[in-house]
Amino acid sequence: MPTNVDMLKLFTDAQDVPEALRILKPVELRGYLVGGRIVEWAGPMQRVDSPIEVRRGGPPEPVHLGSCPQLDAQAGIAAVEAVRQAWDNGMGLWPTMSVAGRISRVEAFTGRMIEERDTIVRLMMWEICKPLAECRVEFDRTVEYIRDTVDALKDLDRASSRFVIEKGIYAQIRRAPLGPTLCMGPYNYPLNETFATLLPALLMGNPVILKPPRLGRLLYAPLMEAFRDCFPSGVVNVVFGDRTLIGPILESGAISVLAFIGSSAAASAMRTSHPNPNRLRCILGLGAKNPAIVMKSADMELAVAECAAGSLSFSGQRCTALKILFVHEDRLEEFIERFTEAVAAMPIGMPWTQGVRITPLPEPGKCEYLSELVADAVAHGAKVVNAGGGRSAKSLFHPAVLSPVNAGMRVYHEEQFGPVVPIVPFRDMATPVNSMVESPFGQQLSIFSDDPQEVAHLIDPLVNQVCRVNINCLCQRGPDTFPFTGRKDSAEGTLSVGDALRCFSIRTLVAAKGTGRNKELLAAITREHSSNFLSTDFIM
Ligand code: G3H
Repeated sequence: MPTNVDMLKLFTDAQDVPEALRILKPVELRGYLVGGRIVEWAGPMQRVDSPIEVRRGGPPEPVHLGSCPQLDAQAGIAAVEAVRQAWDNGMGLWPTMSVAGRISRVEAFTGRMIEERDTIVRLMMWEICKPLAECRVEFDRTVEYIRDTVDALKDLDRASSRFVIEKGIYAQIRRAPLGPTLCMGPYNYPLNETFATLLPALLMGNPVILKPPRLGRLLYAPLMEAFRDCFPSGVVNVVFGDRTLIGPILESGAISVLAFIGSSAAASAMRTSHPNPNRLRCILGLGAKNPAIVMKSADMELAVAECAAGSLSFSGQRCTALKILFVHEDRLEEFIERFTEAVAAMPIGMPWTQGVRITPLPEPGKCEYLSELVADAVAHGAKVVNAGGGRSAKSLFHPAVLSPVNAGMRVYHEEQFGPVVPIVPFRDMATPVNSMVESPFGQQLSIFSDDPQEVAHLIDPLVNQVCRVNINCLCQRGPDTFPFTGRKDSAEGTLSVGDALRCFSIRTLVAAKGTGRNKELLAAITREHSSNFLSTDFIM
């Protein structure tokens, strides 16, 4: 069984960090982007250290990555002013620009972003300790998401580039922007999940205030100039800070759309701080406690492989992670034996190590929190069933597999968002079903079974508990063209390449009675291309 000392040894010497990945000079990000200008911040800075520690002759010490502005309320108000001007009551350059015009700006930005791939990936790895290969996947997936979103918008625009004639009325129905938008993504996908709302919001014509996540901020440094150069003034504003900054932005009442991925407590606080909450459209990705249900008939090899990846990819820090495993009592012993073998085979270490699965946890105090969950479960009768489970050293936490877990334990209810895997044995389907009914969350679940009758019998009640039922497969968001949402306290609005364009816009139409004079008028406008909205232009 590895000891704390063994875990400590996983923090390497500075010279063992691959040369191409080293931080040669800390990133001093002094500027923030407001109203088309990168403004130098003279106020307090937030020091950014990596959760990765390295040895330089002595004991391991955190790697210093740089620093970032800690903006105040006044900077928040300046961002509001900038976004308000860009919106200009819906009459600004960006909200009235043609779809083709907006697409060309986004494409120019994407090109600039791709030039920064290596820098962004390297900063992401140091800031959030995601395995290097997964950081690359996150970057590439984001670029693909942007391209797919552009294609989806072209399709949407093509479908709307015609008149509809109904009961003698000629109409052109399109989607129009909603107004100033605040986009805030989570630390676990600091680029992808932020861009999954930022890009559709922009493409639909909304000017944006973007606040990068608390962890995963420095990776925005290489993008600041590209944002400034590719979009009209005030269309993208990038600010860094906490509640002191965000509070006044919402309290101003200027924000029409809040796109936030994080905790439901933070989302509620933001929504209620808007003076007219009914005028605030919220697109939210919140908590989840996705269960796996391993039935008696399950293909055990497949169930174990999927449950291991589902619960422990990126050390369990995915909103879609499997956070509780219900295993049929008749297969429990076999499941635990194979599952703990799979966990033992997962390499633990630094994110640049080839094939690493478990890496340092970036949230301060996370190991202590996970240790508390494990101790609470043990105090209430569970055992740590895997070798080394729950040991920790600095920011590294050895995955802990707990069994038998029951509703009297905190880990049964709380979203651990880390490498702790609770196993709940069951005989009666009422155990997992009631747990979902009583759960405040309703994102996804996974069923492992080889019996079509059994699966069919489970699907019908379970689709009304969550928004995606995965059969013999882990829970996940992708493919990104699939709808991604949740019930109860898990989400509001649906994100996917196509759905997001709808979330950030509203159907608006121009209609006229089909009189001879009106027909001539409409024909003249479209023929002369004098309106961007009323247009029959077809994007090629
Ligand atoms: O953290 C939540 C992410 O949206 C999950 O995405 O299922 O692709 O890891 P994923």
